[in-house]
Amino acid sequence: MRTPWMNSSYKKRNDLSVLKRFIEGHIYYVILRPDTGAWAVFNEKNYKKYLDWTINEIEKEALYFRGLAYDDSGKEVDMDFPPPADSPSVAIVNITTKCNLRCKYCFVNCGSFVGEDMTEDVMNRTIDEMFSMPSKTITFELQGGEPLCNLDGMERFLQIAEEKKKAYDKIVKYRIMTNATLISDRFISLAKKYNINMGVSVDGPEEMTNNARVDANGKGCFDKVDEGLNKLISNNLTPDGAVCTIGQHNFKDTYRIVDYFHSKDIAFKPRPANYSGRELEEHMTTKKGEWFSAFKEMYYHSKELGTINFAIHIFEENVYGPIRDYICLRYPCGAAREIITINPDGTVYPCDGFKGNSTFLMGNILTESIDDMMHKEWVIKLKDRTAKDIDKCSKCLFRGMCCSCCYSAFGAFGTVYREDPHCYDMQKIFLFLIDEWIKNNVLKENEEV
Ligand SMILES: C[S@@+](CC[C@H](N)C(=O)[O-])C[C@H]1O[C@@H](n2cnc3c(N)ncnc32)[C@H](O)[C@@H]1O
Ligand code: SF4
Ligand code: SF4
Ligand code: SF4
Repeated sequence: MRTPWMNSSYKKRNDLSVLKRFIEGHIYYVILRPDTGAWAVFNEKNYKKYLDWTINEIEKEALYFRGLAYDDSGKEVDMDFPPPADSPSVAIVNITTKCNLRCKYCFVNCGSFVGEDMTEDVMNRTIDEMFSMPSKTITFELQGGEPLCNLDGMERFLQIAEEKKKAYDKIVKYRIMTNATLISDRFISLAKKYNINMGVSVDGPEEMTNNARVDANGKGCFDKVDEGLNKLISNNLTPDGAVCTIGQHNFKDTYRIVDYFHSKDIAFKPRPANYSGRELEEHMTTKKGEWFSAFKEMYYHSKELGTINFAIHIFEENVYGPIRDYICLRYPCGAAREIITINPDGTVYPCDGFKGNSTFLMGNILTESIDDMMHKEWVIKLKDRTAKDIDKCSKCLFRGMCCSCCYSAFGAFGTVYREDPHCYDMQKIFLFLIDEWIKNNVLKENEEV
């Protein structure tokens, strides 16, 4: 069958990479375009036809629309995806650097913090500056330290933002990232009044959370977290996401992490601890292969239970689809693009994990505009960092669906121009998801592609 728009003379690309996969007694060939992350699978018979370019026109057209073949004039399909943002729409507002906990991997240890609260002039400037950004939607994510250690400041920030937003044509969103140990009635009423989206940090069931998320005396915080979560849920403030940091404290039993979030009916995002702050002394993060094995276990168990596991969702989106809208799995990443972070003293950094690191100080909001900071030479260079700037990534087959986290690379290697410290596991995850796709689509339906 032919479609009216069908071009009968698609041309084969000669710049694609090939992966040979052995799956359940069969051989498959994955042709892959590393720069975009697009790929297609052939069984042995069809791979020979692909090589001879005798596959049928529908198959050629399908390759063309994935950017894996040229049209008759030698051009590729024009993919009209929005480019990565070039100005922040999300401000991580560190309303305080105080915290009641001392989580063993926390990156907020990286600066010389003395536990200060954000001043009102910093709040005013942050809000005005963010409202002058081009994005129609501006999100303020209240963080710290622990944002609930400064409820007065939080309330003042929200009041000022609500007042100021009247002069701007913006959609304003509020979000909080909290350790959930200090959920008070006053916070509940603030969260309801200002419609604050809740993000909580929990590392799984009791002993897992307690092994890493501890107070200054080393006591685990799980009981308080559980109490806080129950209070939020009973007040219809169920978190829209939980961040579950994966490391030595919890990577072995990750099916129990899935069970835990499933029982609470909370969507969660597991991710390995990045190399920054206290993590550099405590070495809590996963070692080679551990994040991959945890990912695999959570992949199967989350599918079984139907739990929303954002990490799996995000990786799947990146491997199976053409759009890369998650800022941490895309080159260039979101640092100083979609997001910036502002400390209580007005200092601004390109991403959360850099906060307090003077090497990456973009400026002070009290004396400089965000726009001026964004135009500094080193900020532009960081913003434009892509796989081609990193030796290993520039040669990697998965560079079109991946990213090396700037601050984690800096923490591990002292430079942002290195691969992600969890690179080995990321490559394994990409390959695993490709193999799963073949098992679930090609093998299961016994179709030839
Ligand atoms: C720095 S905390 C601030 C907000 C609040 N205190 C909390 O714990 O949710 C923000 C998030 O960063 C995560 N985090 C801290 N250190 C990290 C690291 N080294 N790598 C990755 N995430 C980290 C925390 O678990 C939390 O989810
Ligand atoms: S992760 Fe959050 S709760 Fe834990 S020490 Fe860091 S700022 Fe405090
Ligand atoms: S971090 Fe590793 S997996 Fe990702 S693009 Fe770089 S080399 Fe490839
Ligand atoms: S620096 Fe890391 S955490 Fe920040 S946007 Fe980039 S990849 Fe994501």
